[in-house]
Amino acid sequence: MEVVILAAGKGTRMFSTKPKVMHTLGGRPMLHRVVEAARAVNADGVHVVIGYGAEQIKTEFPIDSSETPINWVLQEEQLGTGHAVQKAISSLNTEDPNNTVMVLYGDVPLITPETLTKLLDRADKSSLSLLTLLTANNRGLGRIIRNELNSVIAIVEERDATEQQKQITEVNSGIMAVPALKLKEWLQNLNKANNQSEYYLTDIVALAAKEGCRINPLAIDDEFEVQGVNDKTQLALLERHLQMTNNAKLLEQGVTLRDPARVDVRGELSCGKDVVIDVNVIFEGRVFIGDNVSIGANVIVKDSSIGDGSKILAGTNIDGAEIKKSTLIGPSARIRPGTVLNNNVKIGNFVETKNALIGEGSKANHLAYIGDAEIGEGCNIGAGTIFCNYDGANKHKTILGNNVFIGSNTVLVAPLNIADNAFVAAGSAINCDVPNDSLALARGKQRNIAGWKRPTKKN
Ligand code: UD1
Ligand code: MG
Repeated sequence: MEVVILAAGKGTRMFSTKPKVMHTLGGRPMLHRVVEAARAVNADGVHVVIGYGAEQIKTEFPIDSSETPINWVLQEEQLGTGHAVQKAISSLNTEDPNNTVMVLYGDVPLITPETLTKLLDRADKSSLSLLTLLTANNRGLGRIIRNELNSVIAIVEERDATEQQKQITEVNSGIMAVPALKLKEWLQNLNKANNQSEYYLTDIVALAAKEGCRINPLAIDDEFEVQGVNDKTQLALLERHLQMTNNAKLLEQGVTLRDPARVDVRGELSCGKDVVIDVNVIFEGRVFIGDNVSIGANVIVKDSSIGDGSKILAGTNIDGAEIKKSTLIGPSARIRPGTVLNNNVKIGNFVETKNALIGEGSKANHLAYIGDAEIGEGCNIGAGTIFCNYDGANKHKTILGNNVFIGSNTVLVAPLNIADNAFVAAGSAINCDVPNDSLALARGKQRNIAGWKRPTKKN
């Protein structure tokens, strides 16, 4: 069984320069979801027909070397869905009489492997299996035409349909499984005698019926699963559906979502026990959350792990970080890639960390930049401290031992070593190493000028 995925169209109704199938659903390109479904049903070959934005699709497509590789087929001119499959035919095994070709559409992204398996179960070398949908919402879709014996005999596109045919509520999902040999033959007999002057793949159904080939329809009624995305309204509709379905699963697992309509998972989220997630939270990439974690409102977490008992307060942004147990972060903190926060660390408001390893129990409670740093245990980073890591050309590292105290408004000019129990006076600009148990003081001496006259306003 081989799969052909149609993805060459521009997606005119999206009004975008990006190829339609690269628009994302739940953080992943629609095409990626369809390819994944094809792989999940063990396709022996995955052929993707691309045309508009072909180079962009190939370069941006996520690749995992462990997966069945994709055979990209170029359809330079998009002359219709039938023409697209024709382009792929030479890549398919049409020698083996038992080979089945399943056609999927790159713009029908929520199709599940379970439904595809059901369709494939009824496929054999003498029939054409077709996935149809029963829906009152049939606008824009191909109608399934049945004869008086209730057998499927054709698919008629809406633009070519009579008023009577338009009333039909069984529509074409676009997904079908066809014997490879037959497919090759039928595709050669397509013509452009239709409203759009295109080669319609759907016309092979009438060709098959005419030669007495059995048409096997599988009708489903989950509209979302076979909903095609032709415009931004349909994209938004599917995004909401996907998010609500995923969030329902989280609720079932016991995660508290203050409002399941206001949490978006654009990737994969795993949660332990007694996790509470407030409103307007977005998860991106891979996120792991331990037990007893609470996530406040308006938080974004990307590709990170958060250990048991940690509290992430409102407005915090976390990206590429490893956060251990019982930490307190935010409100409004920014935790950037390469940050490792050990147990009981506290990061307060308007603190930014990047490439920073922060030891157990250390605190930076307000207004600081901690970049390219290694901080020991039990340290206190005062408000307004800047780890000055960049000299305009290179980045340098600052290393703090245990129990170091950095007074407020200090500039630590890297490279720098500040040893255990050192104390840096507030307002210092430190550019030399500080030995253990000593006080570093690096600021202008205060002078008080008596009887100072304040400037006055000129007329
Ligand atoms: C198609 C079906 C329609 C079905 C609907 C389901 C045909 C003629 N019609 O209509 O019966 O109800 O899907 O969503 O097949 N593509 C190419 N090359 C082309 C043209 C299209 O690769 O030359 C790709 C598109 O990128 C898209 C898919 O094929 O991924 C479907 O094309 P689209 O134009 O969206 O067809 P619909 O009008 O939705
Ligand atoms: Mg479509």
